[in-house]
Amino acid sequence: MSRSPEASKEIALTTAFGAPVVDNQNSLTAGPRGPLLMQDVWLIEKLANLNREIIPERRMHAKGSGAFGTFTVTHDITRFTRAKLFSAVGKKTEMFARFTTVAGERGAADAERDIRGFALKFYTEEGNWDLVGNNTPVFFLRDPRKFPDLNKAVKRDPRTNMRSATHNWDFWTLLPEALHQVTIVMSDRGIPASYRHMHGFGSHTYSFINAQNERFWVKFHFRTQQGIRNLTDAEASTLVGGDRESHQRDLYDAIEGGDFPRWTLYVQVMPEADAQKVPYHPFDLTKVWPKKDYPLIEVGVMELDRNPENFFADVEQSAFAPNNLVPGIGVSPDKVLQARLFAYSDAQRYRLGVNHHQIPVNAARCPVHSNHRDGAMRVDGNYGGTLHYEPNSFGQWQEQPDHREPPLGLRGDADFWNFREDDADYYKQPGDLFRLMAPAQQQALFENTARAMGDAPEFIKRRHIGNCAKADPAYGAGVARALGL
Ligand code: HEM
Repeated sequence: MSRSPEASKEIALTTAFGAPVVDNQNSLTAGPRGPLLMQDVWLIEKLANLNREIIPERRMHAKGSGAFGTFTVTHDITRFTRAKLFSAVGKKTEMFARFTTVAGERGAADAERDIRGFALKFYTEEGNWDLVGNNTPVFFLRDPRKFPDLNKAVKRDPRTNMRSATHNWDFWTLLPEALHQVTIVMSDRGIPASYRHMHGFGSHTYSFINAQNERFWVKFHFRTQQGIRNLTDAEASTLVGGDRESHQRDLYDAIEGGDFPRWTLYVQVMPEADAQKVPYHPFDLTKVWPKKDYPLIEVGVMELDRNPENFFADVEQSAFAPNNLVPGIGVSPDKVLQARLFAYSDAQRYRLGVNHHQIPVNAARCPVHSNHRDGAMRVDGNYGGTLHYEPNSFGQWQEQPDHREPPLGLRGDADFWNFREDDADYYKQPGDLFRLMAPAQQQALFENTARAMGDAPEFIKRRHIGNCAKADPAYGAGVARALGL
């Protein structure tokens, strides 16, 4: 903004409480060389505010880019769900998206080999629906107990403060169910060229409930209309040398230039009873559902057309949580999803505060009447004098039983069930993925893996070769060759 000598009243500098600031260049001192005076309230306010401008970064997915847009329904799926956002072809719902890398900190470079977060917030008339997914259809693990360890393994070494190939690969190779996700991350899709050039997935199995109160299991797929584009390791390292914010720049510039990125939403839908019949675990986050069994059904288009006016306000303060669900869209027994229903809002109460639902980017755009009160930074009137207990004799805070989902049959004894004994099939799907790759893609997978394993000790490399060989002997042999073992 240019500085005009005829500064208007609106841009005149004031304190946070509106008093005019007389001098913003010189501190108030006793004489020109003298010590400061405590009564320089503007200096004190400036220094104090600076100390509080920083908030904790997200524990993972700290580096990201966001944009606003719209979701438009193009195909009718009301036979599967009563969710209002899907209620009619042509219906539009306002939304906000945030894309991220995962392991890097808030200042990390964008073009890193890593999975990408794909978090979406739909402002529906029955509350916010957050789909907090990734650019891959599967994940490293299928029991949330291992998630904190995953983070410790991929983040920095506590002594050297550097990323550690040893920790990373020691952990991954001891978790054979990680091989599917590891194969994707090490493949030619492991470094997307930009956030616009990648697909997004809900990854977990969720549920749809229709107007007849029937349940279906569902997986969400957002397919990029920009086409898939990726970087090789060499291209990425050259790019990072010149531009650490390549993803942010690409998304921001495309939207500023009117080239609005779009993704087509498809769903895979499984009738509730099929979950007992399919030969794989339908709620296992390390597995995909074969498209030949459950084909993609087209639903609509998401378009991002507006950059946030202020990055901190809308992107840094955005809060996505898988527990933000709306009638017609529910969860599944997937244990990782179940843990995430707790983890996100808990993180956000710490990162942003208990009233983070009032921050404009997070606020629902439908009436909210939640019966929570008070807490730090309550700024919405706090329900005024409305009585605040329920049940009461005055009709306040009525529950909405019409939205009840059908009962979900569950059985089983409580125990620390070892998922690995139930299903030791860690290798079929990574093997299938490997066999789908063209020879050049397989070669890229071998070489990316070898570079990423770097200085990890030989016994860890051999363990990985063994896991790959179980998926496909040619996978193991190719990685061994690339590692020179
Ligand atoms: C961010 C926990 C698995 C996608 C986060 C955050 C936490 C978290 C605490 C930071 C939230 C914040 O401060 O706002 C967990 C736990 C997991 C898990 C405990 C497993 C037990 C997953 C999976 C996916 C995923 C399986 C994708 C399918 C994301 C994304 C973000 C995120 C996209 C960034 C959201 C944003 O842009 O603000 N996760 N996560 N996470 N997680 Fe997870």
